[in-house]
Amino acid sequence: MRYLTFALAKGRIADQTMEILEQIGLPCHEMKEKSRKLIFTNEEAKIRIFLAKPSDVPTYVEYGAADIGVVGKDTIMEENRNIYEMLDLGLGKCRMMVAGFEEMRDKLYKKHDLRVATKYPAIATDFFYRQKNQTVEIIKLNGSVELAPIVGLSDVIVDIVETGSTLKENGLVLLDEICDLSARVVVNRVSMKMEHERIIEIIDNMRKIIKENEK
Ligand code: PRP
Repeated sequence: MRYLTFALAKGRIADQTMEILEQIGLPCHEMKEKSRKLIFTNEEAKIRIFLAKPSDVPTYVEYGAADIGVVGKDTIMEENRNIYEMLDLGLGKCRMMVAGFEEMRDKLYKKHDLRVATKYPAIATDFFYRQKNQTVEIIKLNGSVELAPIVGLSDVIVDIVETGSTLKENGLVLLDEICDLSARVVVNRVSMKMEHERIIEIIDNMRKIIKENEK
């Protein structure tokens, strides 16, 4: 039997996914030891697990360097890779939103050359150009996006909102919702054919655990 390789998005998603894998009988004790190692193996279960920067997870899965990936829907949408999305883990629930100052509410879809700051240029482009049929100027940032309208870099932002406290503390409000987000299990297209039974069993077991944990 060959090794099945998992790529997990570093951070909270990875920690929670490791717990789920443990619950379905695929623990990876090696990972709990503090070290600089990047890849961990469970010899008995014939699985390998590695952690990657979230935006790289869809890339590893598309090329088959990982059979299975766990990563946020925001990253999946932004990277737009040729992979199967198989399961919503319901972890890290949040929303992709358009936000800005209250005064932008009436102008949002009317303003000519609206400036939109975001870490997610593909998602923002798709939303404004395709869904709203609006020509906008997308300004790519790499973090603290809420600053942009405050210092006059942009009219609005497209960003992730979880509790809403970052917006509130900076005097910004929600203007429109783009979509709901959460962690998803993605699978390589070839692996899905070659390792169909093993992968489907793992995903079914993960689904059961999520349902149990919801109770
Ligand atoms: C995310 C997001 C928002 C904030 C939303 O930022 O970009 O800024 O969290 O959470 P809240 O609604 O609960 O306040 P993150 O902490 O990942 O940092 P960064 O965007 O500055 O990199």
